[in-house]
Amino acid sequence: MSCGSPIGVFDSGVGGLTVAKEIMRQLPDERIVYFGDTARVPYGSKSKKTIITYTRQIVRFLRSKDVKAIVVACNTASAYALETVKEETEIPMIGVVEPGARAAAEATRNGRIGVIGTEGTIKSGIYDRYLNATNPHVTVFGKACPLFVPLVEEGWLQDPVTRTVAERYISELMDKDIDTLVLGCTHYPLLRKLIRSVVGEGITLVNPAYETAITLRKLLCEKELCAGEEGLSREHTFFVSDGAEKFRQFANSILPCEVVETKDVNIESFEAD
Ligand code: DGL
Repeated sequence: MSCGSPIGVFDSGVGGLTVAKEIMRQLPDERIVYFGDTARVPYGSKSKKTIITYTRQIVRFLRSKDVKAIVVACNTASAYALETVKEETEIPMIGVVEPGARAAAEATRNGRIGVIGTEGTIKSGIYDRYLNATNPHVTVFGKACPLFVPLVEEGWLQDPVTRTVAERYISELMDKDIDTLVLGCTHYPLLRKLIRSVVGEGITLVNPAYETAITLRKLLCEKELCAGEEGLSREHTFFVSDGAEKFRQFANSILPCEVVETKDVNIESFEAD
């Protein structure tokens, strides 16, 4: 790998595109190899063991693309697998939870922070740990929202059904007097408008993608791996484990670049060591 190598970014599906988009915005010289595990989404209801196996396979696939760094653009994989898999590879890796927790700890004024995420992320308690490590005086209220991911994958971003689901999930947190809400699943920023309309203007919504891109930039600088302008002549590339065309259309609806092609990958052939 070298400065000209791409950055690997992955998620269970389309959610990680919210992180890829922010990387494209903040680090325009870098090129991304994106993998969405669309055949095995959702991750949020699966066990830690399964998510570690999936993550190992994806890291192996991304290594075959000669990536210089990997962004785990999935909170569930960041919570369950990042620590383990990071120790198994020499490629620098970051997740989205630590940057997200840092941003939330800085944003809160009353020290009461809500976190919404998948069952796995909320059950792992990882946001509580990072938030309390940054500021021991904060109180964290977690809420798993398992129906959000299928609704987003279906493209129901503004649908009345999604709104009803959001109201039901979030009302519980509103009763806790939170002033900050972490969108602790990379699919959720795609529901940002709808979530904003449910919580009103008084609550700060934290999208960990912004802080993740800043963390990535710092990491690349530290490792002397920042791309020069040569990156601009190359394309971002997109891979999924199923439904390449559906993914391509979705990606085109949210990314600032045109996704001309998305390729299918047999991810299970990239066996975990
Ligand atoms: N977008 C992922 C996350 O941030 C995973 C959602 C899922 O597959 O359940 O947790």
